[in-house]
Amino acid sequence: MTDPILGFSKLSKQQKIDWVAEQYTHDPEKTKKLLKQYWNIDSEMQKLHDEFIENTITNYYLPLGIAPNFLINDKLYAIPMAIEESSVVAAASKAAKFWLDRGGFKTEIIGTEKVGQVHFMYSGNPAHLEAFFNEVKPKLIEDTKTLTSNMEKRGGGITNIELRNKTSELKDYYQLHCTFDTMDAMGANFINTCLEQFADTFANQAKASPFFTESEKQIEIVMSILSNYVPNCLVRAEVTCAIDDLQLSKTISPEEFAQKMIRAVNIANVEPHRAVTHNKGIMNGIDAVVLATGNDFRAVEAGAHAFAAKNGTYKSLTHASLENGIFKFWIEIPLALGTIGGLTNLHPLVGLALEILQKPTAKELMQIVAVAGLAQNFAAVSSLVTTGIQEGHMKMHLLNILNQLGATEPEKNKIVDHFKNHTVSHSAVVAAFKKLRNNS
Ligand code: MEV
Repeated sequence: MTDPILGFSKLSKQQKIDWVAEQYTHDPEKTKKLLKQYWNIDSEMQKLHDEFIENTITNYYLPLGIAPNFLINDKLYAIPMAIEESSVVAAASKAAKFWLDRGGFKTEIIGTEKVGQVHFMYSGNPAHLEAFFNEVKPKLIEDTKTLTSNMEKRGGGITNIELRNKTSELKDYYQLHCTFDTMDAMGANFINTCLEQFADTFANQAKASPFFTESEKQIEIVMSILSNYVPNCLVRAEVTCAIDDLQLSKTISPEEFAQKMIRAVNIANVEPHRAVTHNKGIMNGIDAVVLATGNDFRAVEAGAHAFAAKNGTYKSLTHASLENGIFKFWIEIPLALGTIGGLTNLHPLVGLALEILQKPTAKELMQIVAVAGLAQNFAAVSSLVTTGIQEGHMKMHLLNILNQLGATEPEKNKIVDHFKNHTVSHSAVVAAFKKLRNNS
């Protein structure tokens, strides 16, 4: 048991490393060496990364891959993906290629509304509160003018403020439910700053309002914060083709494949255990692009899963149909993303990912990200309902197993060659590796 440490954040980077290595690892010298191995050789670049967060001791690498051949609204994209899981980039690329030959992906922005709320408690007459709110609303907007002027110049700003009475759900609980258009910024800081100003103005004005009795003037602000549930910041992406064009392989007819895809989606719609995994596959694609473009994948995850449960049962985020000989596969998903501000201006690889995506607006990025999710789900579900997932997955995982075993490059090449015609399993790879080593 180690003692708690006070003032850790005040220690130098080296002192922090020494402390962690010595207190928590069995080989401190090895730990220190490992942490330093991941530092950037360019000290300015390293400093930049050190300053993204607090108490930084090193960098944590994720591979950045490219899934090419995405035709989205007739424009070709190569999509950067940051992810640790093997076979995700391969699956995305495979789906992209499949749909490239069938007209590509079509997308549509359904809305871009962001949300924030001031949560407060009030125990007086609701009619008095309503009258006060109507009176103070213009002042709430006016008091944020200095905060909103830049955003307004870009075409965004506060779009509405509503008073919501939530007392049937929680005694004395009300909200200011506020909506925003943050254009190409994700807008979290902008929204939170506006909300805190609303809260100040609201509580202060209440103290002098003639609408309230003396005891009603004490409005208690609980908190002011954006919501990551943005059901009206919504994008749709779809693929369609004539059923005859849905020939995936020689072993399954297009009709049978379409029915299997639809059935898989139907299962996810009635069975939350399956829906969660189905949607996890979608998020494999979504998160990888969100991360590569410097966006907040936790916000996107939380919002997507809430949306999947919006009708009270957790369901699939994708949909499939076969009508009049046309197969359609689509997704609707809320995505609050930015292509300016935050990490987008700071992290060189984020800047590069956005450049590779041809410097998209936030709306364009929403469409690209939704497509990555749809493609990923198409690839995963089509494998699941045909060959099963393990065949492809294990082929992709083969190199991970060989790296764990410490195989050399020539050994890897030989074993990869062998498994072109054999089923990959962990034990089969270990056996092949041992045999090769013993023979040499
Ligand atoms: C694995 O990361 C993702 C899948 O489980 C998704 C799915 O089951 O649809 C293959």
